[in-house]
Amino acid sequence: MALQTSIDLRVVPANRFSETAADLVAETLRQQADAVVGLPTGNTPMPLYHELVRRCQRGTIDFSKMRVAVLDDFYGIPANSPISFYGWLCRALLDPLGISSERVLRIPTEGPGIERKCAEYERALKEMGGCELQVLGLGGNGHVGFNEPGSARDSRTRVVKLSAASRAASSAYWNGADVPDQGVTTGIGTILEARRILLLVSGARKAEILRRSLTGPISSDVPASFLREAANAVVIADEPAASLLER
Ligand code: GLP
Repeated sequence: MALQTSIDLRVVPANRFSETAADLVAETLRQQADAVVGLPTGNTPMPLYHELVRRCQRGTIDFSKMRVAVLDDFYGIPANSPISFYGWLCRALLDPLGISSERVLRIPTEGPGIERKCAEYERALKEMGGCELQVLGLGGNGHVGFNEPGSARDSRTRVVKLSAASRAASSAYWNGADVPDQGVTTGIGTILEARRILLLVSGARKAEILRRSLTGPISSDVPASFLREAANAVVIADEPAASLLER
């Protein structure tokens, strides 16, 4: 089925993937040096993060004022847990870029009072002016952040039950370690409020879910499909990921 979306789809050769994505981050920071950028973890954004670190070392992007909002994490883990997405983000990007914790809005990961903490996260994000750019990866089941199938279009930051597929995918990040069965994620509604959204999709194993996200019905069954209703969403897909799209 042909693309039925106004989404800005940019298909690039695999060796141009990270540079194309980094150009978009650079453009955001050129326009607003202290932009809030929402960031995911997972394997997909790692080439982008390496490229951003390279550009920081070369001095071609100024990260000195950039602010960060963490997209998702596991629920029920302590702040310093070895499997925390925040810790992963620090090691991969925030520490090398010199972004200290005062410039980072962490998503809460512990109770009690987790609902209140999620509401505080939403409030703090608003006070920071909201995300200028929200970067996302695409889960194998169509999730964005930890918004699993069934997530509502107007969902906000909250605790969610993780699907078996998402737990297995997450466990693979830590060599099969046991991971919690709940996550905390910014909602679809929260994500859609970003001034610009960048969905990164790479590899042939994401081809079918990318096709469903961009050409199937817009529905909670495939949460990423809601991005087609965003005012300003860009999808950067490498050629293997875009191989099932008719263009
Ligand atoms: C993970 C995370 C998401 C991530 C997605 C895709 O479970 N919760 O934030 O974007 O799944 O991960 P990957 O890029 O490793 O395929």
